[in-house]
Parts: sequence; C-alpha cells; structure tokens
Amino acid sequence: MKIAIHHRVGSYSDLWIEYCKKHKIQHKIVDAYANDILEQVADCDAFMWHFHHHIYQDNLFAKQLIYVIEKRMGKITYPNFDTCWHFDDKIGQRYLLKAINAPLAPTYIFYTRAEALKWILHATFPKVFKLRSGSSSENVRLVKSAAEAKKLTKQAFSKGFENNGYFRRIYDRWERLKKGTCTFRWFLKSFITNNYNFDTFHKEEKRYVYFQDFIPNNDFDIRVLVIGNRAIAKKRINRINDFRASGSFYNIFDEKQIDLKYIKISFEINKKLKMQSVAFDFLHDSNGMPILTEISYCSGIKNYKNYSGYWTSDLQWHQCKIPDFCNFIIEDVIAQIKSR
Ligand SMILES: Nc1ncnc2c1ncn2[C@@H]1O[C@H](COP(=O)(O)OP(=O)(O)O)[C@@H](O)[C@H]1O
Ligand SMILES: [Mg+2]
Repeated sequence: MKIAIHHRVGSYSDLWIEYCKKHKIQHKIVDAYANDILEQVADCDAFMWHFHHHIYQDNLFAKQLIYVIEKRMGKITYPNFDTCWHFDDKIGQRYLLKAINAPLAPTYIFYTRAEALKWILHATFPKVFKLRSGSSSENVRLVKSAAEAKKLTKQAFSKGFENNGYFRRIYDRWERLKKGTCTFRWFLKSFITNNYNFDTFHKEEKRYVYFQDFIPNNDFDIRVLVIGNRAIAKKRINRINDFRASGSFYNIFDEKQIDLKYIKISFEINKKLKMQSVAFDFLHDSNGMPILTEISYCSGIKNYKNYSGYWTSDLQWHQCKIPDFCNFIIEDVIAQIKSR
C-alpha cells in the first residue's frame, strides 16, 4: 500500500503525514502543481489533497485533477469527486440537496435580472442573500426589503460583487472588534492580504443572484462533521446583534448541547450524498426541525482538539481525548485500499 499526499503546511496533510509515520504506512509526498503529477501518483493506491477554497490556484484545477485521478486512473482519492465537486459552490449544492430532498432552506437562484425582479415582486422579506462561494459568513447578508433585493439584483447583473473583498473583511472584523467577538490581533491580520492572493486574483461574482428564505429565531447554528461512520459537532453562537453564526469564533464543544436529531439527520443525508466527509450547517425551523444552509467537504482544522468525543451512526457517543478527524479520514482511505 502506498499513499500519495500533497503537502501544505497548516492543512490536514500535516496530520496525515504524522499518521503515516506513526503507523508505518508507506507514503509519498507529491506536488499536485507539478506537470508530472499523474506520473507521480501512478505507483500509488491513493491520492490525498486538502485543497482550500481561499487558495486561488487550488481552485483552478483541484476538482478537475481529482476527477481524472479517481475516475480515469482508478485511484482512491481524498476527497473523491462525489465529496468535492460542489465544494465552496452554494449553487451546485442547491441543486444537489434539492434532488435528494435534504431540508435545505428554500433557495431561489436567478440567471437573468428580469426573472429575479419578477420574483421579488411577490417575495416576502427578510431574505438572505449569498454569493455562491465564501466562508465565515463573509458573503452572506440579510435583505430586509424588496428595494434592497432589487438593488442587489441590479449590482449582480452589472458590476457584480467582490468575492471576499479586502475592505469588507477589514470592516467585518472592525465590527466584530467593537462587539468584542474578535481579538485585536485578528483584526490587524485582516490588513494583510492572504498569502494566496485570493483577493488579488479572484474574479467578481456576477450574472446570477442567490436568495434564501430567512429562518428566524436562530441564535446559533450547529455544525456536524461526518467522516464515514463518525460524527463530531459543535454549536456556533451568532455574532452579537447579528443573524450569522459562521465565523463568529464563539464555539461550544459540549456534546450535551447537541440535540441528537442533528446527528441522526446528518448520517441519513450522507447516506444519499455518499461523501467521505461532510460538514453540515444546520439551523432549526419553528417546529425545531433541522434546516440546512450549506455543506462542505472539510472543516477548520485548528480547534479539533476541543472536541471530547464523537458519535457513531448508531448514535452512540464515544468519549475520547482527541477525536482527530484527520486520522478518521486517512483510516477510511486505508480501509478503502484494503477492501479493493
Ligand atoms: N437562510 C438563513 N436564515 C437565517 N440565517 C442564515 C441563513 N443562511 C445562513 N444563515 C446564517 O449565516 C451564517 C452563514 O451562512 P452559510 O450559508 O453557512 O455561509 P458560510 O459559507 O459563510 O458559512 C450561518 O452560520 C447562519 O448562522
Ligand atoms: Mg456555513
């Protein structure tokens, strides 16, 4: 058995490599960016790459490369194509989640200004406006009126929207600093354009507009990360005086605060999605039923040490010191290789 790993410091690969060394798993560090990447992985059973939506160049070709290595070369990949084709793409997710009858908040996407305006005429407000990509609520806003929705539509079909704009990030962190939900250091860091030139290169988002029903009375969201047969979960409290939880950095890791219905439905939905790993972001409706806002194949790596255990799909809780989900991922890849 031999596993090819694309290494990026600070990503899941740190832990995958550590795992391979500890368990004496034969592995090879490969460079996804190299011209000969296909030759590099040819003698391996699996290819693993934790690609990131904020790295502009990853997004140029990660999904395409994974498709080829998995579907044409017959290798096991992490993520595989089912797991990642809709990553950081709320438009793709909307069609996918609707097709499998997952409880996605009702979502409306228009590709012409006329269709959007026709819909706005009869829509009720507030609604939530989103760009197809982005994280930490950076591209999510509340639309309080039809007038506001029309303005956003006009912009969508003219100059478009900056994706993860530099000034918007500074403004967002300034607002959070004032409310005491971000540190001064984190605020200062917003002035530094990230290493990956995301702000510099990313094209503006335009010629579509995405609205979602606003799900009221949610002071938090629940993020459940399913990896194979295990799930870990946290509660994320909204920013102060804000409807948005994602990116608030106010996380609760106490498993007693997670209603099992979120765990149960996560395993059920993933039976249809067949993703190797999937993070679900849930709100709840007026009857307390889980409502999805988005999915992604990976979840932040920094705070995994705060979890005190995980659930298995029989809904049993397993207390453990560090439920290291990166280990779960590579364990599943190894199991897949062995079962071939
Ligand atoms: N339809 C909605 N109704 C109410 N709140 C929402 C809705 N969609 C998202 N939110 C809030 O906004 C946050 C960010 O939305 P999300 O779609 O998860 O985008 P991101 O990719 O930025 O995390 C969520 O954590 C949730 O608190
Ligand atoms: Mg989210």
